[in-house]
Amino acid sequence: GLKYFGAATDTPGFREREPYAAQYPTYDAILRDPKEFGQTTPTNGQKWMFTEPSPGVFNFTEGEVVSKIAADTGKLLRCHALVWHSQLAPWVDTTTNWTADGLRAAIKRHIDGVAGHWKGRCYAWDVVNEALDEDGTYRKSVFYNVLGDEYIRLAFQWAAAADPGAKLYYNDYGIERPDSVKTAGAKRIVKMLRDAGIRIDGVGLQAHLHADVHPTMEDHMRTMQGYVELGVSEVAFTELDVRIVAPTNATSLAWQTESYQFVTEACVRVKECVGITIWDFYDPFSWIPAVFPGNGDALLWFADWTKHPAYDGIVQTL
Ligand code: XIL
Repeated sequence: GLKYFGAATDTPGFREREPYAAQYPTYDAILRDPKEFGQTTPTNGQKWMFTEPSPGVFNFTEGEVVSKIAADTGKLLRCHALVWHSQLAPWVDTTTNWTADGLRAAIKRHIDGVAGHWKGRCYAWDVVNEALDEDGTYRKSVFYNVLGDEYIRLAFQWAAAADPGAKLYYNDYGIERPDSVKTAGAKRIVKMLRDAGIRIDGVGLQAHLHADVHPTMEDHMRTMQGYVELGVSEVAFTELDVRIVAPTNATSLAWQTESYQFVTEACVRVKECVGITIWDFYDPFSWIPAVFPGNGDALLWFADWTKHPAYDGIVQTL
């Protein structure tokens, strides 16, 4: 296990906007410190809405902010995400009269443009993100509605052609438990690609976890082994955070520490687990409070820059 322990970063606009802007000197010092993080991922800047806002018109400015930080500080870069139903450019999912050929061509142009732009710089690409619904069936996205599961096979083939050196991942949330219906869905995707002779190197477990009820170390190990048995050569925790229901107290922080340690210990023990990425590291920059009101304090640094107990818990476990 563990080639890297990293943190995702970049919330477009925050660097310029108070009250966030004032935190950046402290934030950047931690982010850039190679003793803290050996890897990073842009949380937003490589998504379709930023990279191809109009058909065939590419813009890499946001994504380059984070790739430049990675290059300047010697961190591995995980790239995220080529084909995803969310944060799409509106022209993709407001077009209601897609033909199969038209949408295939649009996906290919997107992958060629974006993966081609970052060619040779990404340790890994999340090629397809969140293709599964909560019940483990395919999510009814524009991609699935027009092309069925063929879009997944095509995306992996086109990504392999556009950046042959990048590890190609299927990435999703809620696929951290060994026997869940969604984990079964992720396994079906791995098997489908392998049976078709299409390269998939890894499964990314987003791992947006809850402090109070979280997977055990054994759960994580069994889950990862299940993917590895189907033939992927690696697995990774790609978007780890552990949210707490307000108000945060000593008990919830202890649960959170345990949850972070179970992930870390499992990744240390499973040979194919290449690394862990936390989904930002500073609580005020986390996506959690906005999307799950009443939850927060999911990362490793509190708003006042003191560290969560989970920080030392992780360090002891690594
Ligand atoms: C989140 C970002 O962190 C937020 O800034 C943004 O507003 C919404 O997306 N699964 C993913 C990530 O794959 O891309 C999402 O990131 C979190 C859930």
